[in-house]
Amino acid sequence: MDTTNRRQWLKKSLATSAALGLFPLHAFSEINNGHYGTDNTSKKNDVKRLLYNENHLGPSKNVERIIKQVISRSNRYATFYEYDAKTLKQLIAKQEGLKPENVLLGHGSFEPLIWAATHFGSKGEQIIVPSPTFDVVGLFAKKIGAKVTPVEVDLDFRMNLTEMEARISADTSLLTLCNPNNPTGTIVETEKLKSFCRLVSDKTTVLIDEAYIHYLNSWRSKSMASLIAEGKNVLVTRTFSKIYALAGLRIGFILGPDTLIAEMEKKFTLGFPGNMPNSLSVASAITALQDDLFLEISRNKNIEIQHTFYNELDTLGLNYIRSKANFVYFDVKDFKAYKELMLKNKILLAGGWPTKSNWARVTMGSENDMSFLFDKMKGKKWL
Ligand SMILES: Cc1ncc(COP(=O)(O)O)c(C=O)c1O
Repeated sequence: MDTTNRRQWLKKSLATSAALGLFPLHAFSEINNGHYGTDNTSKKNDVKRLLYNENHLGPSKNVERIIKQVISRSNRYATFYEYDAKTLKQLIAKQEGLKPENVLLGHGSFEPLIWAATHFGSKGEQIIVPSPTFDVVGLFAKKIGAKVTPVEVDLDFRMNLTEMEARISADTSLLTLCNPNNPTGTIVETEKLKSFCRLVSDKTTVLIDEAYIHYLNSWRSKSMASLIAEGKNVLVTRTFSKIYALAGLRIGFILGPDTLIAEMEKKFTLGFPGNMPNSLSVASAITALQDDLFLEISRNKNIEIQHTFYNELDTLGLNYIRSKANFVYFDVKDFKAYKELMLKNKILLAGGWPTKSNWARVTMGSENDMSFLFDKMKGKKWL
C-alpha cells in the first residue's frame, strides 16, 4: 500500500474504532507493543491469504517465547513435562468447568471432526448438517457411507433449527451445528441454542463446532460446553487455529461426555500418550489459553477491520451479512468474474457455496491486504 492509501485507511479505521467505542488507536498501539508477533507473510510472499480465516496478527509474543523455550526438547515425546498434554487437558477442563476425562486433544479440530464423522457415520446412519457450513463431518461421513441430510439456513442466513429437528429420524446418529457459522458468520442466540441442544440431545448426539466462538464478547458464557457438565449428549469442538493464531501448529480439541470421549479416545488413538499433539503445539496452547489480552486485542482489531470493510462494501453497493467471526460473507454478484479478478491479483478466495453461488467469503486480513482487495474491487463494472 502506498503512503497515501495507508494514511487514508488508518484514518477510516480510527474513525470506525471511535464510533465503535474500541481502544483509541494510540492506546491500542501501546498495548500491542510487543504483544504479538508480526505476520510478515504478505511481505515475503505477495499472495494475499484471505482464504483460511487465519489471524493475520501472528501468534502472541508469549507463545513465541514458550516455543523458543521448549524447542530444545523436541527430541522427547510431550509427556511428563510441566507443559505436556496432561497439563493442557487439565487446564482446558478447569476453564470449561469439566473433568480432564471430558477432553480429547487433536491435531487441529479437523481431526476430532473426522473422528466424530467416523464414529457416528460408520454404520451408515443419518447425519444432519446445516448448509452452507464448514462441512468436514458431512463430507467425510458421506465418504464412508453415511446418509447426510443438509438443512439450508433460513432467509436471514441463520440456522434453521426447526427444520433440523424435524429431520431427526430413528436412524439419526448425529446433528451438527457451527456457531458462529462458517461461511455466513451468523450465530444462534445462546439461550435459544441451549434450549435446542437440551431438547434435541435426548434424541441424538449434537455436535457444535465452536472454531470462531472466541470472536464473541464474553464468549465462555456463549459456549455449549456447559451442557456437558449438565450431562447432556453434546460434543463441542474448538481450535487454536483461529483467534489464537496457531493454525500451523495443528492443535484443537473435542469436549464431550466422559464415556463417549473414552470410546473415541480408545478407538482413534488407542490411548497412546506419545501420539498427542507435538510438544511445541501443546506448550503453545497452554500459554495461549492464559493470554486473554491477546484475544482481546485480536477481537478488537477484527471488529475495526470488519467495519472498515463494511463501509467499503456499502460504497460499492454490495450486500453482506454482519459477521460474528473473522470473515465476511458477501454478494459479489458475479462469482466467476470475482474469482478471475482475485486469482489475477493473487488473492486467495472462497465462495460459490450451494444456493448462494454468487456469494464469497473473505477473511479479515491486515490493513494492507484489505486495502489491496478494495483497490482491486472498486470500479469493476459487474459489482
Ligand atoms: C468452522 C471450522 N471448524 C473447523 C475448522 C478446522 O480448522 P483446524 O483443523 O485448523 O482446527 C475450520 C477451518 O477453517 C473451520 O472453519
